[in-house]
Amino acid sequence: MRISVVGIGKAGSLLAKFFYRKGYSVSHLINRTPEQALKLAHELPGCKAGGFELLAELEDVVIIATSDSAIRDTFLRIWNVNTRPEYFIHLSGAISSRVFEEAAKAEKGVASFHPNLSISSFSISPSLLQKAIFGLEGNEKGIAFLASIAKKEGLRYVNISTESKILYHAAAVFSSNFTQLMLKQAESLYREKLLFDNLSVVELLESYLEGLLKKVKTGTLSEFSGPAARNDQRTLELEQRCLSEINPKLGKLYEELSCMIRHVRGD
Ligand SMILES: NC(=O)c1ccc[n+]([C@@H]2O[C@H](COP(=O)([O-])OP(=O)(O)OC[C@H]3O[C@@H](n4cnc5c(N)ncnc54)[C@H](OP(=O)(O)O)[C@@H]3O)[C@@H](O)[C@H]2O)c1
Repeated sequence: MRISVVGIGKAGSLLAKFFYRKGYSVSHLINRTPEQALKLAHELPGCKAGGFELLAELEDVVIIATSDSAIRDTFLRIWNVNTRPEYFIHLSGAISSRVFEEAAKAEKGVASFHPNLSISSFSISPSLLQKAIFGLEGNEKGIAFLASIAKKEGLRYVNISTESKILYHAAAVFSSNFTQLMLKQAESLYREKLLFDNLSVVELLESYLEGLLKKVKTGTLSEFSGPAARNDQRTLELEQRCLSEINPKLGKLYEELSCMIRHVRGD
C-alpha cells in the first residue's frame, strides 16, 4: 500500500515522517512549490518528490495536507487526471470529507483525520502524534481504513459525524487557541504593566493552569470563582474601565466574558 502526501507544509511533513518511520511505503511527496517536497525527500530517501506534475502517478492512499481553503481544488486537480487512488484523506478539523464527494460517489474511501495537536513548526517530532487524539470522520470505507491503521499504530481517535465537524472544530478552537489568548493577555499584564519577573509569571500561570486541570479531571468546570461569579459589580466595572484604557478591545472582551460566565452559571 503506497501512501502519498500532497501539501508538504508543517502537518503534511509530520504525517509523511510518521508513516515513513513506521515502515509504510511513502511513495510521493508533492507540494505546490516543489522545493519543500524535495527538501523533505532528503530526509526520507526513496520517496519521489516534486510539484503537481506528479499527481497523475498517485496510487492507493492520498493524504491532502494543504491549507483548508486549498483542499477542494487540490482534490479536483488529482481527480481530473487520476481516479486510481482508493482512499482520499485530509487533515482539516473544520472541513468534512464531503470535499471528496466525487470520490465517495465512485465508492472510494474518503475521510478527514484531524490531529488535535498544535503543529507550529517543521521540527516537531512525529512521535508526538502518538500522544495526540485524532478526530475521525468520513464514509464507512474511509473510517474502517483509518481505524485499522490507528489500531495498528496505537493512535487514539474520536469519531465525529460529518454534520458535527464544524462544532467539533469550534470546540478545539476554544480549548486551544482561545485558552492561549487568555493566557497571553494575563502574561502581558503581569510582565508589561506589573513588571513581574519571569519566574513569578511562569509560576502564577502554572498554578492557575494546574487548578483548571484539576477542574477538567473532576468534571467541575462549571464551578467559577471571580468577580462575575460573585456578582461583584464594582470590581467588574473598575477592571473593565482599567483594561479599556490599555486597549478598548480588551475592556470589551472582559465585559463579554464576564457576561458569558454569568450566562453559563445560569445567573
Ligand atoms: N498546524 C496545525 O497545528 C494543524 C493541526 C491539525 C490539522 N492541521 C491541518 O493540516 C493542514 C495543513 O496545515 P499546516 O499547518 O500544515 O499548514 P502550512 O504549514 O501553512 O502548509 C500549508 C500547505 O498548503 C499548501 N497550499 C497553500 N495554499 C495552496 C494552494 N492554493 N494550492 C495548493 N497548495 C496550497 C502550501 O504549499 P506551499 O508550500 O506551496 O505554500 C503548504 O504545503 C490543514 O488542513 C490544517 O487544518 C494543521
